[in-house]
Amino acid sequence: MSKETVVSGIRSTGNLHLGNYFGAIKNFIKMQHEYNCYFFIADYHSLTTHPNPADLHATVKQVLVEYLACGIDPDACTIYIQSDLPETAELFLLLGMNAYVGELERSTTFKEKVRKHPDNVNAGLLTYPVLMAADILIHRASKVPVGKDQEQHLEFTRTFGNRFNRMYKHDLFPEAVAFNYGTSLVKIPGLDGGGKMGKSEGEGNAVFLSDSPEVIRKKVMRAVSDSGPTIENQPKPEAIQNLFTLMEVVSSKETLLHFEDLYNTMKIRYGDMKKQLAEDMILFTAPLREKILALSADDKYIHKVASQGAEKARESASKTISEARKLIGFRSF
Ligand code: TYM
Repeated sequence: MSKETVVSGIRSTGNLHLGNYFGAIKNFIKMQHEYNCYFFIADYHSLTTHPNPADLHATVKQVLVEYLACGIDPDACTIYIQSDLPETAELFLLLGMNAYVGELERSTTFKEKVRKHPDNVNAGLLTYPVLMAADILIHRASKVPVGKDQEQHLEFTRTFGNRFNRMYKHDLFPEAVAFNYGTSLVKIPGLDGGGKMGKSEGEGNAVFLSDSPEVIRKKVMRAVSDSGPTIENQPKPEAIQNLFTLMEVVSSKETLLHFEDLYNTMKIRYGDMKKQLAEDMILFTAPLREKILALSADDKYIHKVASQGAEKARESASKTISEARKLIGFRSF
C-alpha cells in the first residue's frame, strides 16, 4: 500500500520560534519517516505583509536553513519553496472561483488581521485560506501537521476540496485533517502573559531557535509573572500557567514536578523558576543554533536542496493540476 500524503508549511516572515517547533516541526521530523511528506516555505503567504525583496529572500533562506537544522531531511521528504510551484498558484485561482466572500470574511484569522491592521486589509488576507487549501490539495494530502491556530484553515480546506469534488462529480481531493500524533493540537504560549507565542506578537514574546543564550535569559527573566500564590493548590492565573506550559515542553518531568510542588505549597520563587526555564530553553536550542550557523554559510547545499525539492514537488503537483483542468473542462484543440 502506498503511504498517506502529508503537507505542511511555515510562512517566511522571520526566524522560527519555539511555537513553530512544538506546534509543527516536531511532527515534521517524525512524520517524514512514516509518510510521503511535503514541507514547504510559504513565501507567497508572507507577501500579505509586503516585505522588501531583500528581506523576502533572506527570510526564505533562514526558514529553509532552520528546517534543515531541526532535522528535516531532504532525502526522507520533499522540502520546497511555495513560489517554486506555479501549480499552487493555478489551483488557488481555480479554487477561488468556488470560495465565497461571505465565508472568507467569517474567518477568525481574517477578522483579527482587520482589527490589528485596518490600514492593510488586502485581498491576499481574505483569500489566505484558499491559497492554503491549494497548498494542501495540490499534493492531495490527507494529514496536515499544524498548531491549534490553524484548525479553522483546515476546515476551509475540506470545504473547498469537497465542493470541487461535488461540483465536478469526482473524488479528486481527499479530506485533509490537522494532525498531532493522536493528541490534541498544540498552542505554545508567549512570554507576555497573554495568548500564543508568535512572531508578530511584540518584542520579547517569542523565543527563537536562533536566539543566543544571553538573549534567551533576558527574554525569560522579563516574562510576565505575579507576586505568587496566596493559598495552597491555587488555580494558576494565565501568565503563570504559560510559564508552566513552556516548562512542560523544554524541561524534564522532574523539574516540572519540582516547581509544581513549590507552587502548590506557596514556596515558589518565580525568579528561580525563570532561571531554570531559560537554562532548559538554552540546552534545547543550543545544538540547533550551532547547526543554523553552519548551514547558513553553505549556499551550495541550500541551492541543491531547494532545486531538488522544487523538482520533486512539481512532479506531484503537475499531476493534480492536469486532472483538475480536465475535470473542469479545459481541453486542448
Ligand atoms: P505560520 O508561519 O503562522 O505558523 C507555522 C506553523 O507553526 C504553528 N505555530 C504554533 N503552534 C503552536 N503554538 C504556537 N504559538 C504557534 N505559532 C505558530 C502554526 O500552527 C503552523 O503550523 N498558515 C500557516 C502556513 C501555511 C500552511 C499551509 C500550513 C500555509 N499553507 C498549508 C499547513 C499547510 C501558518 O500559520 O504559518
